[in-house]
Amino acid sequence: MDGNGRWAKKRGLPRSAGHRAGAQNLKTISEFAGELGIKYITAYAFSTENWKRPKEEVDALMALLLDYLRDKEQLAGKNVTIRVIGDRSALSDEINREIDNIEEYTKDRDGMVMYLAINYGGRQEIARAVRRLAKQAAQGDVRPEEITEEMISENIYTPDVPEADLIIRPSGELRLSNFLLWQSAYSEFWFSDIHWPDFTTKDFTRAILDYQNRNRRFGGV
Ligand code: IPE
Ligand code: MG
Repeated sequence: MDGNGRWAKKRGLPRSAGHRAGAQNLKTISEFAGELGIKYITAYAFSTENWKRPKEEVDALMALLLDYLRDKEQLAGKNVTIRVIGDRSALSDEINREIDNIEEYTKDRDGMVMYLAINYGGRQEIARAVRRLAKQAAQGDVRPEEITEEMISENIYTPDVPEADLIIRPSGELRLSNFLLWQSAYSEFWFSDIHWPDFTTKDFTRAILDYQNRNRRFGGV
């Protein structure tokens, strides 16, 4: 969800207003994605690198996050299951409590699952998987030479979720920025110049239609 800051600047508003508009748009797009029949969506809300921002902005992002987690219907609509991935140990007790609450509140729903990536980094996720496997090896439960790709897949945050089919990045940046590194090996990409708060259901549909016409060969012919 990129471009919130530039969206706000263009309007002479503080960056936090852009984040607020972006959060609002997540609700619009995720609800629409659910209606399309998409099973999983992962929203990159806060990266392991975003702590480098001025304290004022980090505080504003955390306050916004707390507001949204509290307002369960606002974030999850009627039938979305919310789950969080990332290192939660750096988040406040309050935020951790609200994450537990919303995960519990939405866990039995049968619509789309929306993962919120908060204090998430692809490298952090892979390092965590390596630590878990190393621990099993140290305990003698697994032989190092027998560690497979599948075992790494089983030790990322989302072992039961398919790899990412489509990664959408708005706002004109052409990079992955540490998002879903392991899961994006064969992802399709959609880049758009539109800033995230302006990214509409029509733009989302355009990305999906384009994706549907791609020929995915996964290295085959
Ligand atoms: C939102 O957009 C991404 C978050 C970290 C929440 P940005 O804050 O990166 O917006 P730009 O890139 O400065 O426009
Ligand atoms: Mg940005």
